[in-house]
Amino acid sequence: MARLSEEKIQKIRSSVDIVDVIGSYLPLEKKGKGYWAICPFHDDKNPSLSVSPELQIYKCFVCGAGGNVFTFLKEYLKISYIEAVKMCAEMAGIDVSELNDYHPAAKINDEQQPLYQMHDEALKIYHLFLKTKNALAAKEYLNKRHIGEDVIEAFQIGYAPSDDSLLKAFTQLNFSRMDMAKSGLIIEASSHYYDRFKDRIMFPLWDSEGRVVGFSGRIYQPSSDQAKYMNSPESEIFTKGKTLYRYAQSKEAVKKAGFVYLLEGFMDVIALYRAGIENATAIMGTALTKEHLILLRKVTDTIHLCLDGDKPGQDAMMKASKALLEHGFQVRIICLKQGMDPDEMLENFGKEALVNALKSHISVLEFQINYYFENSHMENYDERKQYLERLAVPLSELKDPIDRDYYVQLVAGKSGFSKETILSKINQMQSAMPKKEHHPLIFKNQNQRNPQNKYMRSERELLYYMLKDKSVALRYESELGFLYDDKLRLIANYMIDYYRSHDTLEVADLLDIIDDNEAVKLLLDIGDMKIPETFSKEVIDDYILTIKNFSVKLQIENLNEELKQELDPLKKADLVSQIYALKNQ
Ligand code: CTP
Ligand code: MN
Repeated sequence: MARLSEEKIQKIRSSVDIVDVIGSYLPLEKKGKGYWAICPFHDDKNPSLSVSPELQIYKCFVCGAGGNVFTFLKEYLKISYIEAVKMCAEMAGIDVSELNDYHPAAKINDEQQPLYQMHDEALKIYHLFLKTKNALAAKEYLNKRHIGEDVIEAFQIGYAPSDDSLLKAFTQLNFSRMDMAKSGLIIEASSHYYDRFKDRIMFPLWDSEGRVVGFSGRIYQPSSDQAKYMNSPESEIFTKGKTLYRYAQSKEAVKKAGFVYLLEGFMDVIALYRAGIENATAIMGTALTKEHLILLRKVTDTIHLCLDGDKPGQDAMMKASKALLEHGFQVRIICLKQGMDPDEMLENFGKEALVNALKSHISVLEFQINYYFENSHMENYDERKQYLERLAVPLSELKDPIDRDYYVQLVAGKSGFSKETILSKINQMQSAMPKKEHHPLIFKNQNQRNPQNKYMRSERELLYYMLKDKSVALRYESELGFLYDDKLRLIANYMIDYYRSHDTLEVADLLDIIDDNEAVKLLLDIGDMKIPETFSKEVIDDYILTIKNFSVKLQIENLNEELKQELDPLKKADLVSQIYALKNQ
């Protein structure tokens, strides 16, 4: 595999600003010299993740997650280290063509290989069958829904006949029966095999890399009593919760537009395509998962959410918008009239109406105002009051007076309470809300971690100055060469090694080299210690002496222990003289 030199990795790292990168994923708040965010690596309520522009590192004071910009991208986007480096290189405009033959996603293990092949074959077979006379009725149905040749090609739509065509083809192609069953395309029932999909219109499903991994088959005869859609079962290569319809194909359009339309069904993605809009994907009737969020985050930070207008669709929209906001997305909500989906909108009112409807999006707060309204019996006073109480919290968080006026007006109109009443409720909420104490957890935790023991403190503080100044590291190497704490010693060794080829050291660079999670965390703590940045020779003398003394003290303690156990008078005498020598050295 191609490799990047250590120098190049450092160059890439120092060409991007960790604050910009993390800030593009999480809302950051500036406090003092640093920035704070809600930590995405644990269930965080207060901002506990600090981002240091000075050290180019991030660190969570609660869960301990931390690292440099590469670590962040790797952990947050669940990508490999090399992919994170590549991403930063792209942002910085640094050429990394030496990595061009690096395709992490192309890593397909031998077991998966036949499953992908079968899906490729199935796609071709189904697609061809749609052109045969067996598929005339299916084709007629597609025509009725205004799905023409261009769409059939773009979405590789096909037809599954009733006569076990896949089974026959796969047998001819020498796939094993076991693999056929694993693919989910063939069903095994007491050693009898048959095609899963029969007499359905077939929509291929792709994974995030654009490989066909499953199908959804739609019935097309009005009289059918079968489920409208039949999907591939989950398999080694297909997970519904990780699938966003046509994600891979929409990536470029999403990046170009700067946002994605997140829809409910794949027919809706097709409808938008027919209206000339390609920055769209769909969750295909499931809940929005963490994996979906990660995929979306790779291509955009802005989501225009448009799920079905019926009650389950609206409920899903409430949930999804909350999850999206928590993960730092900008969210706009699109509610189509009369509870229609985009496909019905297009069929009933035409292209222009759909395009316009998609443009008239509202904020999540406005959506909540409508949603709670529709789900409350406003003629019941208790519910009317509850309606206002529910909204008082988000309303009280509005900082902009124009926003506040707009939303208060809306709530007044719906609830029948006066603007004055609503405003006084908001004020009451604000004064009742606990004043956000700034990170009480941090101080508690830091104290726990801050060793009170003078020797241990000396080890850490010495490391702190070793980070700042090569000369201190050289003194450590020649005069001390060891530390008691294993992890601290490991860090010291890495530093010494690093200084052999560099004159200055950046914590963020060192993090790339250290291959030990605990040591990384410790290093982050040390880099962040609140002690004077400058030091005198005497301070370093003192650390070295303290650590040396600690060594002597420990040795004496050990010898004393041995002395207690020893019975042989000669050996006892030897131990005593060793202790004496140590005490007087
Ligand atoms: N779905 C499913 N199985 C079903 C119904 C729905 O898997 N029995 C999934 C499909 O992925 C579908 C999505 O949920 O795309 C949305 O369902 P629905 O809104 O019912 O489908 P539409 O997109 O409206 O499809 P159509 O217009 O063909 O009825
Ligand atoms: Mn529909």
